[in-house]
Amino acid sequence: MWLNFILMSENNHTPKRYTITAALPYTNGPIHIGHLAGVYVPADIYARYLRLTGKEVAFVCGSDEHGVAISMKAKKEGVTPKEVIDMYHAIIKKSFQDFGITFDNYSRTSADIHHETASEFFKKLYEQGDFIEETTAQLYDEEAKQFLADRFVIGTCPKCGHEEAYGDQCENCGSSLNATDLINPKSTITGSTPTTKETKHWFLPLDRYEGFLREWILEGHKNDWKPNVYGQCKSWIDGGLEPRAVTRDLDWGIPVPAEGGEGKVLYVWFDAPIGYISSTKEWAKREGKDWEPYWKDKDTKLVHFIGKDNIVFHCIIFPAILKSHGGYILPENVPANEFLNLEGNKLSTSKNWAVWLHEYLEEFPDMQDVLRYTLTANAPETKDNDFTWKDFQARNNNELVAILGNFINRVVVLTNKYYEGVVPAPSNFTEVDQETLDALKKYPEIISSSLERYRFREAAQEFMNLARLGNKYLADEEPWKVIKQDEERVKTIMYVALQIATALAVLSEPFLPFTSSKLKSILAASNELGWNDVLEKETLLAADHKINQSQLLFRKIEDSEIQKKLDKLEATKKANENEKKAVTPQKETITFDDFTKLDMRVGTILEAEKMPKTKKLLVLKVDTGIDTRTIVSGISESFKPEDIIGKKVTVLVNLAPRPLRGVESQGMILMTESKEGKLVFVNPDEEGVGNGEGIS
Ligand code: 2FM
Ligand code: ZN
Repeated sequence: MWLNFILMSENNHTPKRYTITAALPYTNGPIHIGHLAGVYVPADIYARYLRLTGKEVAFVCGSDEHGVAISMKAKKEGVTPKEVIDMYHAIIKKSFQDFGITFDNYSRTSADIHHETASEFFKKLYEQGDFIEETTAQLYDEEAKQFLADRFVIGTCPKCGHEEAYGDQCENCGSSLNATDLINPKSTITGSTPTTKETKHWFLPLDRYEGFLREWILEGHKNDWKPNVYGQCKSWIDGGLEPRAVTRDLDWGIPVPAEGGEGKVLYVWFDAPIGYISSTKEWAKREGKDWEPYWKDKDTKLVHFIGKDNIVFHCIIFPAILKSHGGYILPENVPANEFLNLEGNKLSTSKNWAVWLHEYLEEFPDMQDVLRYTLTANAPETKDNDFTWKDFQARNNNELVAILGNFINRVVVLTNKYYEGVVPAPSNFTEVDQETLDALKKYPEIISSSLERYRFREAAQEFMNLARLGNKYLADEEPWKVIKQDEERVKTIMYVALQIATALAVLSEPFLPFTSSKLKSILAASNELGWNDVLEKETLLAADHKINQSQLLFRKIEDSEIQKKLDKLEATKKANENEKKAVTPQKETITFDDFTKLDMRVGTILEAEKMPKTKKLLVLKVDTGIDTRTIVSGISESFKPEDIIGKKVTVLVNLAPRPLRGVESQGMILMTESKEGKLVFVNPDEEGVGNGEGIS
């Protein structure tokens, strides 16, 4: 009854099914704890919880493979966009699997089904006359001969003054922008100041949707959307909505299916949210289901899980597209999270200030639940929050190990010790027993109430309170003492404790899925047990049922392990500071053939002398494995001749000889700089590497 009340409270009807979406990650890098905390863990908790309550759920996601983020990465790496998306799609997909994110489907926007779906959407709006077709002056990079949109241009945000706003959005204040709005724009391709050039685009006239958005969000969702989400929407709508271009002059993306659209693609934020629909179609086809009710039936509850930088796209632009298309439902909630920081600083891919999921698992194998739990307990739900390794350790040692793990271990060990693993039959319940069993039955409702309001931190704490209840019960009833005087009484105590353990096995599933399945297997509990069974069933683990031996659910994390993580971050900080001093921009990309023209060999310095009357030059005799040759090198200020005799070095041997102060230099020794700015040899100092070995 109570559960139904909660389920109905958001929209006054009980949904028949749920469509849950999680932001499609860009495939321009692996994912880190910020992604997991902000979007994927809460979305997965919600989806798992709904399934456990017997709901029909489509939980969809996929890789966001278009847009400038991908083109930029490809340019930077000197590979094709296709190579970039294939590589990161596989890495990201695996991370999700590894962390138990139970998408019903994980698609990709490069899939045919998505190209078709997004093109159809555009065509429908185009044919209905819902776009404005206009030729306007757009930013243009003369050097790169390219229009600059989105991440190809940065500049000062006209709304908040942030100096690194992108051409389509300021990630600082969340505003969506047109590239021409930026103050002091700079091309991120060449660093030059752009000029402008005329080009035709299709614009979605958002101003025409103001009435609809006001009614739907500002009047309809004032009380059930999170204040941060509602507040952002209100300020955009009140600030006046403007037409937004939904096409781009780029060569990577979905071709514009309109007359005059040749050479242009859809704006990534036009196609990406439609990816939720394509992913649902892909899933339904595979499962032999009908996708349409999941997007078109008003009895479906659609919920978008996103980070705060995506609010405008999910609450304003995508709904305007859906509304314009017609026939689609709108999201009932968009529980966007704030950002997670790491040890006091913003997570940053480029600064490597992150905990990458694949790296975490190398260091803490089989400890996915610890990270899931820490990120939930400390989720950035109402404000930006900090992930610290000390908090991670404390959540593990003081909560998972000391409360949950300890309770389960005591129950399982004692049941095996006293009854060879067979659940004892209870006799008379005392008042405390009855109160404990009654309290236990309230937990599904208490946790549901938090989950239904997207309060995942609170829900995780309530779950842990159930383990606390179990611990307190055992500590108060002291079966290990009572066993000496009253064996019958201990049977009842252990029976009650085993009911709590089983409830924990079921209710932990959304938060700690790996632990839940381990615990179910220790208790030999049925996988069929659902959320409502804890609420309704008199007995969760019947007398005479046999459980298995205890297994460790969690292990203690030592200070030394945490120190290692902190040291690694400290080293990253130092490296970033050094890099800040002088980072030479990457040179123009070369082909593999260009590279193979360089003949680099391992050599040994046999002799070294100062070149008379110079400050910098040393004349070296180097054994290159091919011959012994003279090389003049400008390293005299960094090395004394006598110190480098016998040193192994890397030599570019096919550089055209050139005279230096009358001595012919027949190659070049490769050098780099230490952190302190000192010259050092690029030194192939591995044992067994002989002179003349090529370097490739
Ligand atoms: O911010 C991002 O990482 C985007 N790739 C999110 C896209 S969500 C959706 F609309 F596809
Ligand atoms: Zn801004």
